[in-house]
Amino acid sequence: MIKLNRAAAADMDDISAFLHIADLTLSGLDSPSVQLWIARDKKSGEIFATTGYEASNNGTHALIRSVAVGPSLRGAGIGQELAQFAMDRAADDGAERAWLFSRRSGPFWQKIGFTAADTHDLALVLASTHQVQLFSETGQLRREVAWSRRL
Ligand SMILES: CC(C)(COP(=O)(O)OP(=O)(O)OC[C@H]1O[C@@H](n2cnc3c(N)ncnc32)[C@H](O)[C@@H]1OP(=O)(O)O)[C@@H](O)C(=O)NCCC(=O)NCCS
Repeated sequence: MIKLNRAAAADMDDISAFLHIADLTLSGLDSPSVQLWIARDKKSGEIFATTGYEASNNGTHALIRSVAVGPSLRGAGIGQELAQFAMDRAADDGAERAWLFSRRSGPFWQKIGFTAADTHDLALVLASTHQVQLFSETGQLRREVAWSRRL
């Protein structure tokens, strides 16, 4: 089990740099509605894993985001642990369904119970979230792939 700590304001620059390398969305990371956790290497202090989610306004839906593992540590089960952690926290907070955007890692999400979903269904129930607002504004929503599962 890796040790995840809630991200603080002082972590944001490091998180942005880490997620940039993982090619994930940086929009709204520092917003209070985005729940974010990180793991740092004990010796170097460098971030090697992040996970998080943003809930819908009514709390019943959760957009999982920022699930990333440092490139050299992939394939060892950390990603699955991070995904489960975010889903557990979202469920603890009352979410009943998890959603996410992923163009490249669909098979990873399918292994943990996600099935393909309609991006417009996602955008409807999670309209208030930063990622949906950004993707709607930029037109990226049309190019995205959505995934969903019950919690
Ligand atoms: C996706 C990601 C988080 C997976 O992390 P990881 O630590 O390598 O994943 P795990 O080792 O827990 O993998 C769990 C299972 O999924 C499989 N898997 C992992 N990534 C996969 C991928 N991209 N495609 C297909 N299968 C994948 C693993 O082989 C493993 O299968 P197994 O249980 O049969 O051995 C990591 O590749 C990553 O950080 N990618 C960049 C960021 C990203 O795309 N995040 C997702 C969008 S939020």
